[in-house]
Amino acid sequence: MEEKKRTFAFLKPGKKNKQSAIIAELQFAGFTVVREETRVLDIAMLREHYAHHVDKPFFQPMADYLMSGESVLLILSCKDDLDPVQFLRDLIGPTDPKKGQFGQIRYDYGAHHPDIIFMNAIHASGTSAEAEEEIARFFPN
Ligand code: CMP
Repeated sequence: MEEKKRTFAFLKPGKKNKQSAIIAELQFAGFTVVREETRVLDIAMLREHYAHHVDKPFFQPMADYLMSGESVLLILSCKDDLDPVQFLRDLIGPTDPKKGQFGQIRYDYGAHHPDIIFMNAIHASGTSAEAEEEIARFFPN
């Protein structure tokens, strides 16, 4: 089967203009927004998506934060010669925003405090298979 050239991301809750600025940065970098939906995530969805983190001490504060406002769910594609999953991960930087660099989305828009690493502005799929799983989960129709 031909590999799908797309990835999945969601912008975490925060000011609307911050979310718009991040989308503009993604587009400026070369991404096309294939699908976009604004939604407040619920606990069932978060338990499924973060199944590997449910037993970690940061899970509940992370879930409370993610349910506190609207997330923007995105399916993104880019030029054929680029791998959208890797391209996006390079653009956003590491999970912990302060470990990234100026110009990376999580460094520029995420929280630089060790207690709130989960406020890292954006989630992005780790592999192409994960992206397809997450797209099926968040965009079932
Ligand atoms: P995300 O890309 O959404 O996927 C896993 C999430 O778990 C990650 O971003 C962070 O939000 C969160 N996370 C991972 N490690 C930690 C940590 N040590 N402290 C708080 N949150 C974390």
